[in-house]
Amino acid sequence: MKANSRKSATSWAVLVLVGLWVPPGASAGAQDRSAARPSVERPDGPVWQVIRQNCISCHGIDDYAFFALDRAGWVDLIDSQHMDYEDVVLSDDDRNLLLDWLVAEFGADSEAFPRSYIPPEITVFFTDPEAFRLMERACTPCHGMDRINESRYSLDGWRVVLVNMREQGAVITDEELETLVEWLSRTRGINPNQ
Ligand code: HEC
Ligand code: HEC
Repeated sequence: MKANSRKSATSWAVLVLVGLWVPPGASAGAQDRSAARPSVERPDGPVWQVIRQNCISCHGIDDYAFFALDRAGWVDLIDSQHMDYEDVVLSDDDRNLLLDWLVAEFGADSEAFPRSYIPPEITVFFTDPEAFRLMERACTPCHGMDRINESRYSLDGWRVVLVNMREQGAVITDEELETLVEWLSRTRGINPNQ
């Protein structure tokens, strides 16, 4: 009995030390004050093989969305970021495959994900009519509500979508954006019963 309680006290200490301990009352949905990050969908096929073999040993692919560059811009960026790394050298074929994909996804005519969006803390939450009123104004000028109704994302996923929509031209304040993120994740989230 005694040995057991000492053991569990040690486990707590270890959990606190490695940062896995969540204080009671901290909910999983606690609002995050760090800058929003993009999320890039992994490509299929040969491009993914090039990225898997040459790129992801040091960092992920999400950061690519911070850029909107033409081919020459991508060449410069990749060269300049990796001058100290002799490993980041691709064959011409691999390099062309990668550049084709980068330019198609994050070309000069795309909208770069902003580095600066820090979600504001929200204290009021939308009712359904309030959410629909905002979406009628801010979203339907470009596409139907079905586009939104058919989508399912986590809270972070909706934030990425809405930050991207604002880059495309949606007129919406930070507070409106974040309040809509909360409403969408509540009503069109990834929980199976939504
Ligand atoms: C050996 C480690 C390593 C490999 C492999 C690597 N990178 Fe990097 N990459 C880095 C480092 C270090 C940085 C600079 C990160 C920083 O400034 O925070 C960087 C930065 C970048 C950036 C700019 C990121 C930003 O947010 O500013 C891009 C884009 C990028 N790399 C793409 C690639 C691609 C594409 C490949 C594969 C061809 C690749 N990287 C392979 C180490 C690597
Ligand atoms: C200026 C035009 C414009 C406005 C305004 C706009 N969108 Fe979009 N939206 C697009 C375009 C273009 C696409 C398809 C291309 C893409 O995915 O980037 C899209 C796609 C989407 C998708 C599907 C994306 C996916 O990957 O699942 C969702 C969801 C969405 N929009 C939600 C919204 C919401 C919510 C608003 C209002 C806050 C909004 N949009 C406002 C232009 C717009």
